Amino acid sequence: MRSKLLATLALSAPAHAMLRFSCSQLVVDRIDPLVQPGAAPSSHLHQIVGGNSFNASMDPNIELPESSTCTSCTFTEDFSNYWTAVLYFRARNGTYKRVPTFANQYLEPANGGITVYYIPPYDNKTPVTAFQKGFRMLVGSSTKRTDTKDDEAQQLSFRCWDKNFGGDIGAPGTGKDTKYLPNKPCPGGIRANHFFPTCWDGKNLDSPDHKSHVAYAKGGFASNGPCPDSHPVKIPQILYEVAWDTREFNNPDEWPEDGSQPFMFSFGDATGYGTHADYLFGWKGDALQRAMDAFCGVNCLELKTQSTHAANRCTIKPKVNEPIDEWLTELPGRMPVTWS
Ligand SMILES: *[C@@H]1O[C@H](CO)[C@@H](O)[C@H](O)[C@H]1NC(C)=O
Ligand SMILES: *[C@@H]1O[C@H](CO)[C@@H](O)[C@H](O)[C@H]1NC(C)=O
Repeated sequence: MRSKLLATLALSAPAHAMLRFSCSQLVVDRIDPLVQPGAAPSSHLHQIVGGNSFNASMDPNIELPESSTCTSCTFTEDFSNYWTAVLYFRARNGTYKRVPTFANQYLEPANGGITVYYIPPYDNKTPVTAFQKGFRMLVGSSTKRTDTKDDEAQQLSFRCWDKNFGGDIGAPGTGKDTKYLPNKPCPGGIRANHFFPTCWDGKNLDSPDHKSHVAYAKGGFASNGPCPDSHPVKIPQILYEVAWDTREFNNPDEWPEDGSQPFMFSFGDATGYGTHADYLFGWKGDALQRAMDAFCGVNCLELKTQSTHAANRCTIKPKVNEPIDEWLTELPGRMPVTWS
């Protein structure tokens, strides 16, 4: 079911309610307030979008809407922060170049960043409970290098795009999507997909591993599968799509001679199994709850918006001053690279 419904979304106005919006690049920086709060630098580089109050500490008690003056998302009541690791290309001479993000399909003026979805159950009537102030969570694990075949591993995948977003049009994770980084050049770039859990324990805004307070629904969220007893509260399904612009790196003469692929995440993972995504809730008031209760689509009259051009102007300076965009002899933070 999910694939058919999301495919409809990609082609035209959605038949099923879901928010899908662009959050342009706010900053690329080596900080990680969820996993390494206060550290500047943290171990590896991230690309971050959302409210401009983002910094290395992000105390759960701060009011993100009040402490931000702009957001790089097109819904202007959303001062949440969303982030993922960064992709690098390694040329045959052993030097690394950062792969930029580019605008996802139908969000073309966006300055890269992340496409964010908030998805209520597809029956368009089962209510979900929006996140509370201070809520945060993580999906994926930077130390994974194999397919762990658990609930979480099913929710992280890559799409190898043909030119102009061509190829598979099904839901993320279906069709030819892989759980590992594509092993061949992708003419239209690579899209990384991260689905977050949809059940909450109803109590904890966070947990030591940033995961145990949430869980995946049995039988899948889209099918309106039940939440486990330990995590009874249905929350919106968050999906991040990141469009990596690998197009300038598709020259076969620059790819490794041993047939391996040349891309790796900023934490040194050339498999892709370690892909992960971080979320810090920061919507103003009850805006997200209202949007979910209204089963809003892409054009949500419940919510205030800004143009993508205005969203592109919301940027901050990196806290960590280091070269990230020239040809580098090692990854930022000297992260060692592993291929398996
Ligand atoms: C982050 O910002 C908050 C206010 O928004 C401030 O209180 C805190 O000191 C900042 N932390 C760092 C590490 O800059
Ligand atoms: C390494 O290869 C890249 C890609 O061909 C090139 O742009 C870069 O200048 C090379 N660096 C060195 C130090 O040769």
